[in-house]
Amino acid sequence: MNIDPARFLKDLHTLREFGAAGVGKGVVRPAYSGADVAARAWLADRIRDAGLRVEMDAMGNLFGLADAPSLLLGSHSDSQPEGGWLDGALGVIAALEVARASRAAGGPAISVVSFQDEEGRFGVTTGSAVWSGHLDQATADTLSDHTGAKLGDAREAMDALVTGSVDPAQFTGFIELHIEQGPTLDTSGEQIGVVSDIVGIRDMKITFDGQQNHAGTTPMHLRRDAFQAVSAFNAKLATRFRNVVTPTTVWTIGHLSLHPNASSIVPGRAVFSMQWRDGDADRLARMETIIRELAEEMAQARSMSVHFGQMLGLEPVQMDTRLRTALEQGAQSVAPDNWRLMPSGALHDATNVSRLMPVAMLFVPSIGGISHAFEEDTDEADLVAGVQVLARAVSAL
Ligand code: GLV
Ligand code: MN
Ligand code: MN
Repeated sequence: MNIDPARFLKDLHTLREFGAAGVGKGVVRPAYSGADVAARAWLADRIRDAGLRVEMDAMGNLFGLADAPSLLLGSHSDSQPEGGWLDGALGVIAALEVARASRAAGGPAISVVSFQDEEGRFGVTTGSAVWSGHLDQATADTLSDHTGAKLGDAREAMDALVTGSVDPAQFTGFIELHIEQGPTLDTSGEQIGVVSDIVGIRDMKITFDGQQNHAGTTPMHLRRDAFQAVSAFNAKLATRFRNVVTPTTVWTIGHLSLHPNASSIVPGRAVFSMQWRDGDADRLARMETIIRELAEEMAQARSMSVHFGQMLGLEPVQMDTRLRTALEQGAQSVAPDNWRLMPSGALHDATNVSRLMPVAMLFVPSIGGISHAFEEDTDEADLVAGVQVLARAVSAL
């Protein structure tokens, strides 16, 4: 099959126009925002133009269906609150290009997907979690974002595009092309990463409740300052983890909200996100115990209460050997001896889809190893190489 690099890159740049923001090629297109809904409506048209049948389920996962059975290719088209133009978008447009090229060449039937809320405005890879049965729709609908909006209300923005559910049984496997989002390939100079496995993740909100009070009159030793509890918790966490974590374990407090968030008020409440990732599920569990014990300790020392929100998470998963081998062979023909096998430290919809069918993934380099930021970018030659590897793997399968 013949990939058309100009057609692929044109579609990728057009998708970036939905929610284009910030410096460089930045994008603001969180799940169910106006930009996300408009992007999915445009994608539905492109899918239809490619001769595929458009379906959208109640979550807003958008499918382009070939005649069953078919391989499923794709990723997601929602973004982080501040994101780049390639995270997810690359895999969706690459899927569309391979589906078009395969159809034109009389090749294998290819279906495409753009999953919803991969970036976890409400959960962790929420759209594919629901589609795969990892999370039921009723529970998903109760999840809230950092402003308190509920998923069940937010997804009404997509209602006009929803057609019905999509049966996973029609797909023989799933392959996702993605940017690496880390420094490995950019540092080594290699063009392709074939993914061996995807790390596991745990994510929960933690709340410290102290006493809101006057910032001028309340003596330091009488304060029950919720921010001081978060600060002390964070300062001690690395030390408590030291006998459990490895150099590849990561943890992040990425969101913090103080109430009432005013210069002259001792904050009475602090809510923060606690997220940790590792390739070993046992290690994730041991870290959870440490997090809970340390947070309790910090609260007790300050006569505060602590509350742990719903634990969200995904287990580490291995890629399917047959699909992975096809990607390795494709990588070797497109980028001879200039690719590597590597784990994914980022989460992907492929983790959820692996509950339903064989899955595999491949990466192209991220310039400077930067992602989840407006500066995210990849050389166009590398983007095209990624699509070519995907096309060769699909042909071989
Ligand atoms: C997905 O974007 C992740 O946070 O790894
Ligand atoms: Mn992504
Ligand atoms: Mn992402």
